[in-house]
Amino acid sequence: MLISGTGSNMLAILDACAQGDIEGEVVTVLSDQPLAAGLAKAAARGVPVQALPYAAGESRHAHDLRLKHAIEECGAELVVLAGYMRILDTEFVQHFATRMLNIHPSLLPRHKGLHTHRRVLEAGEAEHGASVHYVTPELDGGPCVLQGSLAVRDGDDAESLRLAVHRIEHVIYPRAVGWVTSGRMKFVDGVPTLDGVPLQQPIREEFARS
Ligand code: GAR
Repeated sequence: MLISGTGSNMLAILDACAQGDIEGEVVTVLSDQPLAAGLAKAAARGVPVQALPYAAGESRHAHDLRLKHAIEECGAELVVLAGYMRILDTEFVQHFATRMLNIHPSLLPRHKGLHTHRRVLEAGEAEHGASVHYVTPELDGGPCVLQGSLAVRDGDDAESLRLAVHRIEHVIYPRAVGWVTSGRMKFVDGVPTLDGVPLQQPIREEFARS
């Protein structure tokens, strides 16, 4: 699992593993940020962690080659990006393309990139949410498999949306990871399948606001 920050999605996935909702284990948590709060949280749960910061002047290609070796050394079969905030090298992405998931805080293809909550408000949109997708070289552009949506309310600000979207993420990301580790979901020839059925569009679940 790759993180850069607080690691709340990482914790949701660790919880799901501990509860048996995900068949599998997190073999290592890696971060480009040595001080990422999520690294300490993972270590406190006994999960091996590794900080892999960019060295001074290091290119993305050179860094991600080191990242690739670290992932291969720990024997991971699936790469889970959980708030990893670096753009990944194309060669790296191609190497792990059929076995790398990301979570993004918007209803893709709307609002790729950063500041999604603010942009939803600025666009006056009535709904928002989060997407789990396979990672391809196009940034936030790989096929989506699962989305959770919510209604934007009068009075919402970027922070209230961030909190509401996080709650959705903590449900949909463990679910999608579990689909992969149980063998239910596969990504073959550019098309994700669930239980052998091609997903032409993501499965979408609507969440009530609390
Ligand atoms: C999550 O909201 C995730 O969707 C987002 O970073 C946050 C990480 O939170 N990822 C991206 O924006 C990637 N483009 P967390 O560290 O608490 O899991």
